[in-house]
Amino acid sequence: MNAVPQERRVVTALPGPTSQELQARRTAAVARGVGSVMPVFAARAGGGIVEDVDGNRLIDFGSGIAVTSVGASAEAVVRRAAAQLADFTHTCFMVTPYEGYVEVCERLAELTPGDHAKKSALFNSGAEAVENAVKIARSYTGRQAVVVFDHGYHGRTNLTMALTAKNMPYKNGFGPFAPEIYRVPVAYGYRWPTGPENCGPEASAQAIDQISKQIGAENVAAIVIEPLLGEGGFIEPAKGFLPALAAFARDNGIVFVADEIQSGFCRTGRWFACEDEGVVPDLITTAKGIAGGLPLAAVTGRAEIMDAAHPGGLGGTYGGNPVACAAALGAIETMKELDLPAKARRIETVMKGRLSALREKYDLIGDVRGRGAMIAIELVKDRRTKEPAPEATAALAAACHAAGLLVLTCGTYGNVLRFLPPLVIGEDLLEEGLDILENALADL
Ligand SMILES: Cc1ncc(COP(=O)(O)O)c(C=O)c1O
Repeated sequence: MNAVPQERRVVTALPGPTSQELQARRTAAVARGVGSVMPVFAARAGGGIVEDVDGNRLIDFGSGIAVTSVGASAEAVVRRAAAQLADFTHTCFMVTPYEGYVEVCERLAELTPGDHAKKSALFNSGAEAVENAVKIARSYTGRQAVVVFDHGYHGRTNLTMALTAKNMPYKNGFGPFAPEIYRVPVAYGYRWPTGPENCGPEASAQAIDQISKQIGAENVAAIVIEPLLGEGGFIEPAKGFLPALAAFARDNGIVFVADEIQSGFCRTGRWFACEDEGVVPDLITTAKGIAGGLPLAAVTGRAEIMDAAHPGGLGGTYGGNPVACAAALGAIETMKELDLPAKARRIETVMKGRLSALREKYDLIGDVRGRGAMIAIELVKDRRTKEPAPEATAALAAACHAAGLLVLTCGTYGNVLRFLPPLVIGEDLLEEGLDILENALADL
């Protein structure tokens, strides 16, 4: 069993010589459109550490973009996936079904918000889940329009590119995009013109007004929103925004879809981020953290909505692959056993304490926000104008990387440094990672 020592170790310049050799092969063989945050090649990973092929051990504040919440080699995930691999790798659920798929759907019905009858369908990627949520909502309502939000991110397939807000790098040159997608404002408290305290009510009124006047509520199949926006900059919609939109959807026969692909499965300190304001979505999309690193995604929701699509209308060759389902059952077991929602809340306390102190010290940090182990700082050139500081953000990330801390950036303006450690990270590594960030800020 792979047990990666839980300590940072930097023994070469990063990337080291073996990574550099692999990078040369990669450049020759892999399309340049597929990027990497850090050109160090992984050898093994687990807990809060990624070890590279040169023997360097990096503190992981990225979790492979919010995936390895239980760690990248969690015992229950490896054990169950390995046992399933030995039994069979694939039959295709659409040809001959198997129990693991059904069991994952049962767990999803228990864990997702709301006590109504629920059903699920399984897919391979987050984007595929979002696409299918839209198909299901259109099938159920007989309507076509889909409402999405400023700063939203939903994937890289044709429909999900249309749902995604940011042009570079996700959309530029890849059009034409799918029709009947409408974007409305989101409650971005830090940048709301009349201040964060007015943001929830004002932004929801604006969004609802635009939907009513520009699209017509009766034409809208679905409102699709991330309850805590991910790629767009870890934006927590100001209080009141999500409940107001959910109520508007309910009153107008619109399917309310929570995209919890990044925020779900304990990441924000609850099983799902929408629970924070008691919002019960009609459909919820999940992926990433669900299966401890294996590719799996789901749409879960009200049974009558999920059953609107005709038999054969949903699916895919690999959707709900048996090894991925076994891994998901192992990941869910781990989340329950280790009480990972509580671990995420503890990470929030530690991180926000340190980051808020840094905000007092450095004007560069305009905002500290997020929940659980989904925390970010937004960097600005001037606190008054809030002009984004993408260059400083990139420099800070590079300094962290050089010191052996894996961090990611995000945000429509490229000025958000985000922290997504595995929920199982040790507190010593968490503090050490924050020390590295603090030193990097001081040097900047
Ligand atoms: C909120 C959200 N939706 C959808 C996706 C797309 O998921 P995938 O990359 O698995 O297609 C992502 C990925 O980052 C996401 O964060």
